Amino acid sequence: MPDRYAIVGNPVSQSKSPLIHAEFARQTGQALEYIRLEAPAGFDGFKATVDAFRAQGARGVNVTAPHKLDALAYATETSDAARLAGAANILAFDGERVRADNFDGVGLVNDLRLNQGFDVAGRRVLLLGAGGAVRGALLPLLAQQPMSIVIANRTEAKARALAAQCGSAAVQGCGLNDLDGMAFDIVLNGTSASLAGELPGIPFAVFGSAQLAYEMAYGKGLTPFLRLARDAGVPRLADGVGMLVEQAAEAFNWWRGARPDTAALIRQLMVPLA
Ligand code: ATR
Repeated sequence: MPDRYAIVGNPVSQSKSPLIHAEFARQTGQALEYIRLEAPAGFDGFKATVDAFRAQGARGVNVTAPHKLDALAYATETSDAARLAGAANILAFDGERVRADNFDGVGLVNDLRLNQGFDVAGRRVLLLGAGGAVRGALLPLLAQQPMSIVIANRTEAKARALAAQCGSAAVQGCGLNDLDGMAFDIVLNGTSASLAGELPGIPFAVFGSAQLAYEMAYGKGLTPFLRLARDAGVPRLADGVGMLVEQAAEAFNWWRGARPDTAALIRQLMVPLA
């Protein structure tokens, strides 16, 4: 019987993870089964679903909304990245051990480096938002040694608290209104505004010297954020499809000890930014 994995969340019908991991398995010649598991909201629903799957011999799960905090609570061992993110998007099962990690940030950094040709080292980074997406991205971005990271959020206090939690002089938090007069090499949108077709209230000028505008959500085409960046003359636009596939590649390697190719899959899943 092949090793078993799943994506756990609610809903999960839209998840691209089964397709991505099936392609990685095909590519690397590994026998595994990867299914969708919809778990009732709340920790008890998550636990019951995952306990039952483990009883069937499951080796690991990816975790999506609304269960990323439940996954962290369920684990017996957690990585630094998962702890700072306050959320886990992957679990590995080994007898009684349950290891938790969060590869969203590594996926982002790998996408920037490998697919966007953008090296974060020495650069000025603007991160919009202070929710799960930004929390997950922060430590891996910081590990690339940027010159600075500004976290700007609609609710300023959340950005300040997250920056303080980071404990690095290179990271500062502020409100969206405080961005006037600041310049950046890259602007990343980690707010959920685009999912509602909204635009975070940012000054046009933040894009003044940016080489890349990056929407961490994916599959929405030219979002209001990316349209604004395009109109401001930013030469390169990207959404989170590369981040999604790169985090999956990281996950696959963590579980299976084999690193799949990502480029063809990213091209296949990409929604044109027009
Ligand atoms: P997620 O886990 O998807 O990041 P979240 O933790 O609810 O979701 O965070 C959503 C983020 O998007 C927050 O930073 C939120 O700002 P607030 O902290 O002020 O709520 C931000 N956000 C959502 N809608 C927004 C909008 N229309 N304009 C600006 N920021 C927005």
